Parts: sequence; structure tokens; C-alpha cells
Amino acid sequence: MARDNFIIAIDGFSSCGKSTVAKALAKALGFVFVDSGAMYRAVTLYFLRHHIDIHNIEDVRVALSDIHIDFIPHPKKIKVLLNEEDVTDEIRLMKVSDRVSEISAIKEVREAMVAQQQQLGHKRNIIMDGRDIGTTVFPDADLKIFMTASPAVRAQRRYDELQLKGEQITLEEVMANIAHRDHIDSTRKESPLRQAEDAIVLDNSNMTQEEQLQFVIEEYQKRK
Ligand code: DC
Repeated sequence: MARDNFIIAIDGFSSCGKSTVAKALAKALGFVFVDSGAMYRAVTLYFLRHHIDIHNIEDVRVALSDIHIDFIPHPKKIKVLLNEEDVTDEIRLMKVSDRVSEISAIKEVREAMVAQQQQLGHKRNIIMDGRDIGTTVFPDADLKIFMTASPAVRAQRRYDELQLKGEQITLEEVMANIAHRDHIDSTRKESPLRQAEDAIVLDNSNMTQEEQLQFVIEEYQKRK
């Protein structure tokens, strides 16, 4: 069915700055930004709190039917609500990062989240970042960006972010978590992380945020 809204899909590995570019882009273009990873993180937090046995698919289904995720625009950062509770900060903690790839690899979890993500893209101009946005959620996206950066650069960025939040963690632990997530995200059976054929690669290892923003805006202008 023809759409008249513009969809930008940004996919790529963990901690390569997807949401930073996506947020700046949303602000510059007046688009709605949706962080699909936050949805998988909120599901993971729910599963941890409720001790859901991920091998019991019936329990997983019941849990999913009880999960409602909302994004609330806020001047400083977009709030993520899990069943009306603000979990914006909690979903970024290591206890969630450590389990999120495993939980987001479950078929039922992906089906539930992809359906919600597709709903969000029905009418408005949106920028969504994740792992499978250009391949599965919006294969007909108007612009697809595949972001990447060297593992060392990604680990350092993530480490700096966690330090600012006061998490006690070493750079080696962050590197291990990133390598672990890369592996699960790109080898899982259900919509693994991969570059869509028509995606444009943005390797930002040596680029400033401003340069990345300009790069994507130029691609947008070619297509709008
Ligand atoms: O973008 P992020 O690091 O916050 O994402 C957290 C996890 O969620 C990531 O390890 C893989 C998963 N994810 C996914 O499977 N599909 C998406 N579209 C977005 C995230």
C-alpha cells in the first residue's frame, strides 16, 4: 500500500552511535524518533522482574500480553514507559544489557515488538533505529542507513557513557558485553542483524556527530 510518510531506518551494531544520530536527525527534520532497542530492553526488564522462564513459551506469551510500552516526548530525553512506569534509566543498566540479546532473539518477543513498531510507522514521518528495521520492520523504508564503527571505538564510547552514570565496570567487561551481543544479534535465527541490500553504510569510527548528521541529511535530501 502506498504511503505518504517518510521512513528512515537506521540499523547497526551495539554502541555505534545509532540513537545519537537518529535523535539529532529527528530534531533537524522534525521527525518522530523511535528507539526500537528500548522496547526490547523494556521487555527484558519485565522478564527479569517477573522471573519469566524464557524456555516456557506459554509463560513468554502471557508476559508479552501484559506488556505495554510507550514513548513520551520530553525536552531532554524521550521517556520510556513500561506499563505506565518510567523505566528510561533502568533499561540502560548492565543487568538489562547482559540479557537483552538473549530475550530479543525469542521469536514471540520479536513478533510482538515488530507489530508495535510497524504500527508506529503507519502515518508519521519517523526515524527508527535498531537491528532489523531496514530488513524486517520497514523493508520499504525510504532511506536505510547501516551504521558501524570499530569495536574499540564502540567499547570506549559505551564505557564513557556508563562511567558518567556511575556504573562500576571495566573497559574489558564492556568489550566482552559488546562482543557477546554482536555475536547473538548477528547469528540469531529470527531476523538477525544484517545490512539491507539497499542500505548505505556509515562507518563513524573517525567522524564527528556533526559530520554524521550532515552525511545522513544529504542522503535524505537526495530522496525526499
Ligand atoms: O540498540 P540497543 O543496544 O539498545 O538494543 C538492545 C538489544 O536489543 C540489542 O542487543 C539487540 C536488540 N535489538 C533487536 O534485536 N532488534 C532491534 N530492532 C533493536 C534492538
